[in-house]
Amino acid sequence: MGYKVVVAGATGNVGREMLNILAEREFPADEVIALASRRSIGTEVSYGDKTLKTKDIEGFDFTGYDIALFAIGSDATKKYAPIAASQGCVVIDNSSLYRYDPQIPLVVPEVNPEAVENYKNKMIIANPNCSTAQMVVALKPLHDRARIKRVVVSTYQSVSGAGKEGMDELWEQTKAVYNPTSEVPPKKFTKEIAFNVIPHIDVFLDDGSTKEEWKMVAETKKIVDPKIKVTATCVRVPVFVGHSEAINIEFEEFLDEDEARDILREAPGVMVVDKREPGGYITPKECVGDYATFISRIRQDSTIENGINLWCVSDNLRKGAALNAVQIAETLGNRCLKKG
Ligand SMILES: NC(=O)c1ccc[n+]([C@@H]2O[C@H](COP(=O)([O-])OP(=O)(O)OC[C@H]3O[C@@H](n4cnc5c(N)ncnc54)[C@H](OP(=O)(O)O)[C@@H]3O)[C@@H](O)[C@H]2O)c1
Repeated sequence: MGYKVVVAGATGNVGREMLNILAEREFPADEVIALASRRSIGTEVSYGDKTLKTKDIEGFDFTGYDIALFAIGSDATKKYAPIAASQGCVVIDNSSLYRYDPQIPLVVPEVNPEAVENYKNKMIIANPNCSTAQMVVALKPLHDRARIKRVVVSTYQSVSGAGKEGMDELWEQTKAVYNPTSEVPPKKFTKEIAFNVIPHIDVFLDDGSTKEEWKMVAETKKIVDPKIKVTATCVRVPVFVGHSEAINIEFEEFLDEDEARDILREAPGVMVVDKREPGGYITPKECVGDYATFISRIRQDSTIENGINLWCVSDNLRKGAALNAVQIAETLGNRCLKKG
């Protein structure tokens, strides 16, 4: 006997990837339902070797469904997640709507799987921001060994993090560079993204940082340790899939670069690719479709007492969203909603 599962946002980047991953990991589902907006009624989406016809989330009755994986943005989540939860279906949500609610667990299963048990508070579990998810997978095992004081991170975030419209904009603008008769003005992004980088993701806050940067700070504290200080600069780059991060970490205790490499080699969800030679590191293109968070360029930062620098790359649609959501569903199943 398996679970009855709903995937809301099944026509989007994250939703399609959640369906792929449920099938790939043979999640024990007796039934999977694909939902999206009214615009997508009847749109066919793949689930393993099956094809599902998308239904309208409006009016859908979640009664009898165990888990709903949501990837429909904050506005629609605000409307539909409470309905699903009140009908007894646990929502695992990819939007930022519930991440900072102290009653709602924010979970990366390699880091804080025990937090899943607090799903009972509101029948909702939040999935972190894509940049946070991959970073905390790398930080946690190092924190356990040498206590992290401060993190300075710069991100290089792919356009798929801005949804399917972000990918289309990079594609159309790139083509337009070679065919100048058809100009494609910026719409999803604030400036042209093709052959450019944009140091601005999400809205500006009063202190001059952006909401995306603030999310990395607040979410790292909630998932790993409230004492860790984080400062971030988040940048959009013309890459379709895969977020990269240059991370500088200051520890309370000394941590040798070789020991850091060994710790990361053993860490769950991490793959170390770190040869000090041309090409001996990972780039986003190589991590697409993979589950791991890849770590390269591990080295001492000799400008501070206890510092390490590293390069962290992962598929943002997978570890940054869909994979993490499915891993949460697996953890919930193993710990709380046992079946069969
Ligand atoms: N992309 C990432 O790396 C990433 C990472 C972490 C979290 N997230 C979050 O995941 C969510 C989805 O992101 P995405 O990248 O998959 O976006 P996307 O490609 O633009 O897809 C959006 C999905 O939401 C559905 N939707 C939009 N408005 C809806 C409504 N009113 N009612 C029902 N369904 C609605 C769309 O359905 P239609 O096709 O019918 O419009 C589509 O299936 C967002 O909250 C995003 O912040 C994304």
